Amino acid sequence: MAEEKLLIEDLDLISEGQGEGQTDARVTASTHTGGSRKVYIESYGCQMNFSDSEIVASILQKQGFDTTSNLEEADVVFLNTCSIREKAEQTVRNRLQQINGLKKEKPELLVGVLGCMAERLKSKFLEEERIVDLVAGPDAYRDLPQLIEKVDEGQKAVNTFLSREETYADISPVRLNSNGVTAFISIMRGCDNMCTFCVVPFTRGRERSRDPHSIVAEAEDLFQKGFREVTLLGQNVDSYTWSEVENNKARLNSRQIDNRVNFAHLLERVAQVSPELRIRFSTSHPKDITDEVLHVMSRYDNICKYIHLPVQSGNTRILERMNRGYSREWYLERVGRIKEILGPDCGLSSDMIAGFCGETEEEHQDTLSLMNEVRYDFSYMFMYSERPGTLAEKRYKDDIAEEVKKRRLSEIIALQNRHSLENNQRDVGKTFRVLVEGPSRRSPDFLQGRNSANKVIVFPKKNKVKGEYVQVKVDRCTGATLMGELVE
Ligand code: SAH
Ligand code: SF4
Ligand code: F3S
Repeated sequence: MAEEKLLIEDLDLISEGQGEGQTDARVTASTHTGGSRKVYIESYGCQMNFSDSEIVASILQKQGFDTTSNLEEADVVFLNTCSIREKAEQTVRNRLQQINGLKKEKPELLVGVLGCMAERLKSKFLEEERIVDLVAGPDAYRDLPQLIEKVDEGQKAVNTFLSREETYADISPVRLNSNGVTAFISIMRGCDNMCTFCVVPFTRGRERSRDPHSIVAEAEDLFQKGFREVTLLGQNVDSYTWSEVENNKARLNSRQIDNRVNFAHLLERVAQVSPELRIRFSTSHPKDITDEVLHVMSRYDNICKYIHLPVQSGNTRILERMNRGYSREWYLERVGRIKEILGPDCGLSSDMIAGFCGETEEEHQDTLSLMNEVRYDFSYMFMYSERPGTLAEKRYKDDIAEEVKKRRLSEIIALQNRHSLENNQRDVGKTFRVLVEGPSRRSPDFLQGRNSANKVIVFPKKNKVKGEYVQVKVDRCTGATLMGELVE
């Protein structure tokens, strides 16, 4: 999934973080449309959840709610939760304890749990966490106004129905925490892959793709509003598929063929919105990424040359146990094709899991040796965390001791830090086209943006503003950031 570039100091946090590359909860910004009640939304986990919170805000705004970033003034509190690792769920429970304090002072406060943890625990949530009034899974957000009404009438409200069709295609998200330059567009929901370690297929349901017309329309609308980069989001974007016939959008006569839209086609359509609109996407799956996609990427300058291709493990036996659908050799062949078609400068990042069930010391070494072959620019690295209900929980023993997992993870992190730094050092002296995203984190006199390969580049502000494209010559770096000077 899409992720923010984090500082190298954050790497420890990432491995212990709640979701994909996110170390903190995100609170939606305030809106002032004169709504009669105020809703505070705090989101955990991956970009998909952050995107969903914008859909939730949009649905509620139509019902007369404003969002607020101030918990104290809220009438309704929603936590949009993540279940990916045990720690993510613990964070939410701790937060509910804190909110409980607030509810004691303000008994009319409505507390709701949304997202993956809501889906996993369903009505059990109401028994386990007594302060929760409302539970809504990821496909139930259209029902929120009715669920809130039910709570207003004094009942508890639960909807965790998972849909085979819901894509919220017609709802324009309220872009709440936006920099006005980059935005995310959900192109599909759910996942059918059943990786044995993963809870997502259970919390997000079956995979379904969104109507390509609504995706392109959303990209066009964002471009009109001044946005210059969109990231297409899905758990496995390579299995995007849309058929006009199956979706009854067109009546074809017998002589017409059904033009099925795959991810390569979709990518091309979005790239054609404007050459000034950059396109990124996440997540690619190693078993499904096609040469066709790579060729479309190479044909369009505005499709960024960066691929997040999570490997999880460098050992084929472990990959089989994970049900990932590819071997070490297959993965390395795909990386070879990426470099061949897109060139050696194409950015590559990964996710890694340390200490999966039954992983031997040699198998762990295979992950390190694969990293040495690929030399990723960046990775999200995690210790295996057993999730209730997953295939791994049913089939295998979580038998790697915590200290061993920790040690293996720290070896993976140390190697990744080295690769990130070395790769960045190779960029010193090169000039890149950068889309300006806003002020740098450290100083208002500097701006920051990213190059095509997704590397963060910091440079003196001068007269430049966000949303512009600039040329920056890199003169120094850390493992996480490139720094340089503007060139004309
Ligand atoms: N759809 C994406 C991943 C979504 S989850 C993909 O297939 O690549 C994001 C990452 O969390 C995964 O890539 C994996 O590295 C990690 N993860 C998922 N389940 C986990 C678990 N039970 N324990 C530790 N890490 C896990
Ligand atoms: Fe989880 Fe695998 Fe689906 Fe990714 S592809 S969301 S890891 S089941
Ligand atoms: Fe995302 Fe966490 Fe759900 S990573 S899909 S919010 S389990």
